[in-house]
Amino acid sequence: MSGHEIPPVSGRRQIVGLLIRGLAFWGWLVGSRRRSGMAAEDAAGQQPQAGDGLVYFAGPRKNAPVLRSELPLGGPQHLVWPVAPDGTVRSANRLNQLLVIRLDSAAIAESMRPFAAEDVLCFSAICTHECCPVNMWKAENRTLYCSCHGSEYDPATGATVVAGPAPRRLAVVPLQLDGDRLVVAGPPVGRVGCRKV
Ligand code: FES
Repeated sequence: MSGHEIPPVSGRRQIVGLLIRGLAFWGWLVGSRRRSGMAAEDAAGQQPQAGDGLVYFAGPRKNAPVLRSELPLGGPQHLVWPVAPDGTVRSANRLNQLLVIRLDSAAIAESMRPFAAEDVLCFSAICTHECCPVNMWKAENRTLYCSCHGSEYDPATGATVVAGPAPRRLAVVPLQLDGDRLVVAGPPVGRVGCRKV
């Protein structure tokens, strides 16, 4: 048969069958890529959960795992993201931003000890007033300071509000240690967010 002749019926059936199978495979491939992309997006937006590690939000150690021993004793805090065991940084939802602070363990309130990894505490970094990140440290008061409107939180007593317009404390995230690495021990306790969300 030359290249221009119409193939016999059985040959045409074979070609149609191959085309249908090819299209079905292509549809499956696109669907599975979309599904895995959505799963990754979901994981990146999910709230911190048990088994998550922590990575730095910014600075020279950005995206590096947070180790207890490298945190400065007595503050300031560091802003961090939770990271799933498969390496997905949960940064798709900005309400997932956390802060960690290492304190003199004698200063940590009894009620907060179950949440601490030795002397390190972790809180939501989202100010409960209007959702700014609580990214400053007021050394003279030993408080977490939100520069947007001046709210101050005392980390040793569970990020209770000691100044400013914030209506409630920051949510606390339980921590544990895996060697020197800080690991989330459970979901946030308390409401994450502010008056707006
Ligand atoms: S947003 Fe933090 S004090 Fe207003």
